Amino acid sequence: MAPSQLPDLFDPVFTLQDLSVFYGDYEAVRGVNMRIAPQEITALIGPSGCGKSTVLRCLNRMNDLILDARVAGKVTYYTEDLYGESVDPIEVRRRIGMVFQKPNPFPKSVFDNIAYGPRINGQRRGLDEIVEEALHRAALWDEVKDKLKQNALALSGGQQQRLCIARAIAVKPDVILMDEPCSALDPIATTKIEDLMQVLSRDYTIVIVTHNMQQAARVSERTAFFTAEVDERGERHGRLVEFDSTARIFSNPADKRTEGYITGRFG
Ligand SMILES: Nc1ncnc2c1ncn2[C@@H]1O[C@H](COP(=O)(O)OP(=O)(O)O)[C@@H](O)[C@H]1O
Ligand SMILES: [Mg+2]
Repeated sequence: MAPSQLPDLFDPVFTLQDLSVFYGDYEAVRGVNMRIAPQEITALIGPSGCGKSTVLRCLNRMNDLILDARVAGKVTYYTEDLYGESVDPIEVRRRIGMVFQKPNPFPKSVFDNIAYGPRINGQRRGLDEIVEEALHRAALWDEVKDKLKQNALALSGGQQQRLCIARAIAVKPDVILMDEPCSALDPIATTKIEDLMQVLSRDYTIVIVTHNMQQAARVSERTAFFTAEVDERGERHGRLVEFDSTARIFSNPADKRTEGYITGRFG
C-alpha cells in the first residue's frame, strides 16, 4: 500500500505516551510514543533485545505477571487508561488476546482447548457453535472437524498455532497480539498464518512482533522500528526509532538507523 493511502487520522486502539518499562532498576524500554490503528496489522521490528516483546506485553498487561516489571508513562486503550485502578487485568487479557512464539495448546482435546476460555467465562450453552466458529475463523476447521476429541498436542506445529489463534478468538477479543508467531514454523505453515492474519485484520486489530523483516513487509500496514541505544552510563535501552507506514519504512525510511537495519547493514 502506498503511504498516501494510509489514513493518518484514526481513533487509535492504543495510545502509548512516554512508555518506559523497567525490570527492577533496569530500564529495558525508554520513552515510546505511538498509536495503534484499528483493524490493521502493526508490526514491531528490530534487533534482538530492543524491547519488542516488552512493549507488546504492555498492551494486555502481561508484564503484570513478571515479577519486578514496572510500567511508567501511559497506555490508553481507546479512551481508558489501561493501567487505571478500576481496570481488571483479566478482562483486559480477554479483550486483548496473545499468541506466543511456541504454540502452547493445553494438553486437552481440540474441542476443550477452544471451549476453555468460554467455559471459564461461565458459558455452558452453545459451545459447539462457538468452537466451530473459532476454528473456521482460524482456518483450521476443515483440518480438525473430525478430530475434535483428539489431543491438541497431536496436531502439527502450524495447526497448533492456528489452534492457539482459535482459542484466542473464542473469547471474542478485540485485539490479537502475536509475539513471533511463526518463528517455530516451517515456510508453508508460516504462509498459512500470514494469510490468516490478513483475513483476521478485517475484524481484529493485530500487533505482531517479528524479527523477520520480510514478514513485516508482507503482512503489516504500519511498522515500528526499535533499536537498543547505549546511554552515557553504558546502559542499553530499547527505543522506538521510527514508526510509519510499512511501505515508507521499507522504501524510504526517515532515519539512517532504520535504513541500515532494513538493508541488513546492522542489527
Ligand atoms: N523478565 C525479564 N526480566 C529481566 N529483564 C528482561 C526480562 N524480559 C526482557 N528483559 C530484558 O529487556 C530487554 C528487552 O527484552 P525483550 O523485550 O525480550 O526484547 P526483544 O523482544 O526485542 O528481543 C532485554 O535487555 C532483555 O534482556
Ligand atoms: Mg522478543
